[in-house]
Amino acid sequence: MDNKKLAFFIDLKPAVEDFSTAVAHGLSQSPKELPCRFFYDEAGSALFEKICETEEYYVTRAEKALLTRIAPEIAAIAGPGCSVVELGTGSNAKIRILLNALAAPSAYIPIDISGVHLLAAATEIAVEFPDVAVGAICGDFVGMTALPEGVNTGSGPKLGFFPGSTIGNFEPDVAREFLSRTRGVLGPGDGFVIGVDLKKDVTRLTAAYNDAAGYTAAFNKNVLVRMRNELGVAIDLDQFEHMAFFNEAKSRVEMHLRSLRTQDIALGSQTFHLAKNEMIHTENSCKYTVEDFKVLSEQAGFDPIEVWTDERHDFSIHYLRTPG
Ligand code: AVI
Repeated sequence: MDNKKLAFFIDLKPAVEDFSTAVAHGLSQSPKELPCRFFYDEAGSALFEKICETEEYYVTRAEKALLTRIAPEIAAIAGPGCSVVELGTGSNAKIRILLNALAAPSAYIPIDISGVHLLAAATEIAVEFPDVAVGAICGDFVGMTALPEGVNTGSGPKLGFFPGSTIGNFEPDVAREFLSRTRGVLGPGDGFVIGVDLKKDVTRLTAAYNDAAGYTAAFNKNVLVRMRNELGVAIDLDQFEHMAFFNEAKSRVEMHLRSLRTQDIALGSQTFHLAKNEMIHTENSCKYTVEDFKVLSEQAGFDPIEVWTDERHDFSIHYLRTPG
């Protein structure tokens, strides 16, 4: 794959976080933890796509249906000629819906840490939308405070796009700081469209992270698979159980790996002891009320402009704006 179809490809050469160091750090904590960003190698990303297709995981379906319904309203607020800056790239299904609805979008600029995936996804959009200037930035959007110098976003306003309720994987304090930084990636008076999963019936939330086909369990255990394959750690996957439950006090679904027996994990010269039933915390997926997320976005310095939810009140899409 080459980047000839793209208006530009900027490689910020994001530092590749050392997996071994992160695992050692996480297993030294009490309680033990492993960061959820390590779920997403090729196999993990494929498992995530499978999760999105399950009956139980309503998130992706609800967001797509809602986005399809309200895209004309987003377009009316955004106005013509805007440049869409997407934080992360997924399957391209959602950006297609948005670009098709916007009036003469001038540019599309996805930012993603995985250069290979970014190039493939951006090229696909460049081919499908020949009138849109597609440029890609390979970098870590989470820590970004401004677009790199020299990025031409065209003369129209920018429209940030962050679907998928990925914001839910940050704890609220971290989410607030991230949103605040993102105001710098956009400019004064620019819009930001963000998908946020809503708090709901505990039975449905629990089922969404415990699908019957076992994709979420495999996704959770993928971090162990990576430790085995990439770090040479001797791990018996059957000695860990996938756990996902709703923590009401923190309004989040938590994923953990429960050790089914006393065992040691040897990593280089270090050994980490796991007691029987000890849990390794692998992911938080925070669930908001519409009002709570509005407040969070205001605390991060955005003006909430509009918010839409689907009929079942499963999912919300917020249109925020940076002060002009
Ligand atoms: C990517 N993220 C929003 C998903 C979520 O729902 O937190 C990841 C996921 N974890 C388990 N299932 C899906």
